[in-house]
Amino acid sequence: MIKHLERLVEEGKIEENDPIIDLGTGNGVMLRELQDFGFTNLTGIDYATSSIKLAAQICPNLVNHLFQADILKSDERFAGNYRIAMDKGTFDAISLTPNDKEEAIAKYSDNVAQMLRKTGDFLFITSCNWTSDELKKHFHSHFEVVQELKVPKFKFGGKEGSSTVSVLFSKL
Ligand SMILES: C[S@@+](CC[C@H](N)C(=O)[O-])C[C@H]1O[C@@H](n2cnc3c(N)ncnc32)[C@H](O)[C@@H]1O
Repeated sequence: MIKHLERLVEEGKIEENDPIIDLGTGNGVMLRELQDFGFTNLTGIDYATSSIKLAAQICPNLVNHLFQADILKSDERFAGNYRIAMDKGTFDAISLTPNDKEEAIAKYSDNVAQMLRKTGDFLFITSCNWTSDELKKHFHSHFEVVQELKVPKFKFGGKEGSSTVSVLFSKL
């Protein structure tokens, strides 16, 4: 994911000081990598307070940019603020919710679109549960695909394993 963001910087599509939000930041490793690359305007959110505490240890200088927040709840703190939303594995977790899956997917899409500033801003998502076509369907009301990055399927013991997709969407 980071390599692809680097390419977007090289192509002049994004800048290193563009505001980026990491959705479901977990232990903050993505934020750390973004920081190491040179991105300077970073926010991380996660609904687990334990994740926010861990992320604060991994990225101590971002301690004021880490928030306990539920992506499935509309939140004015994040509305209209970001150029890029990053998601590695969080939509997968959210969309596997045993409760109302369709409602969770719709809320995720509405709320992430609300966090972005304007048309053309990016949602960059990595999933191992959904194909890019499925992601496209889930997000079609707010996002269109800019680019799909396929990670090749692996084989183990003669069996084909699941593949990971990374899809760059832009806000409609
Ligand atoms: C599979 S982990 C991925 C963590 C991180 N993105 C990474 O790549 O290491 C999913 C993360 O999403 C968070 N999460 C799940 N549902 C969430 C929600 N509704 N709002 C905010 N965070 C959520 C979890 O607490 C967890 O840290």
